[in-house]
Amino acid sequence: MGKILIIYDSESDRRFTELAVPYVKEGVERIDGMEIRVKFVEDAETEDVFWADGIAIGCPTHLGGISWRMKKWWDDRTPEIWFKTDGKFAVPFTSAGSLGGGGELTCQSLSVMMMNMGYFVFGITDYVAKKESLHYGAVFAGEPRAEHAIEACRRAGQRLAEWVGYYMDGRRDLHPLDAKYQRFWELAD
Ligand SMILES: Cc1cc2nc3c(=O)[nH]c(=O)nc-3n(C[C@H](O)[C@H](O)[C@H](O)COP(=O)(O)O)c2cc1C
Repeated sequence: MGKILIIYDSESDRRFTELAVPYVKEGVERIDGMEIRVKFVEDAETEDVFWADGIAIGCPTHLGGISWRMKKWWDDRTPEIWFKTDGKFAVPFTSAGSLGGGGELTCQSLSVMMMNMGYFVFGITDYVAKKESLHYGAVFAGEPRAEHAIEACRRAGQRLAEWVGYYMDGRRDLHPLDAKYQRFWELAD
């Protein structure tokens, strides 16, 4: 049984990143048999990271990068965690003030941070609506309100669960190229 941790930071009064968490969780739940823990970053323990086969990691975009609270959490625990999480999977998501405001850079920074801990991070080729994708993670402006933004969050959680199921649990039917759902490649045109 795959184990997924959704760890997130959210700082503004409107808790936009937090509002994405249920959608990421719904995406994970599309794959049966996944155990899920959801933790606000300050409530997360190192043990949650060791427990999880895969992590969906989300934070607001701050100055084009990772929010300080999320960065500090991993900085503080690096000596404890490093060398012990190789081969797990991670996918990033972020709320930015605007599209073009650095959300993809934040996803890249989150990915690099997870790579530093030995995690596999992955691209997602799917389109979730016409001209809407999540190649480097789910990025949305404010809360994920539009259906494509909501689906991007779900798809990030789903793909994480698929890779965890495929590689960690040996569930051959979960490979995305064998997906039973429509992957909307035609929406790129
Ligand atoms: C210190 C700080 C830096 C920010 N930097 C950016 C930025 O570089 N690009 C951007 O689009 N939005 C930026 N924002 C806006 C937040 O990313 C945005 O309001 C987000 O939706 C907040 O998510 P939250 O409610 O989960 O905290 C910044 C906000 C703060 C407080």
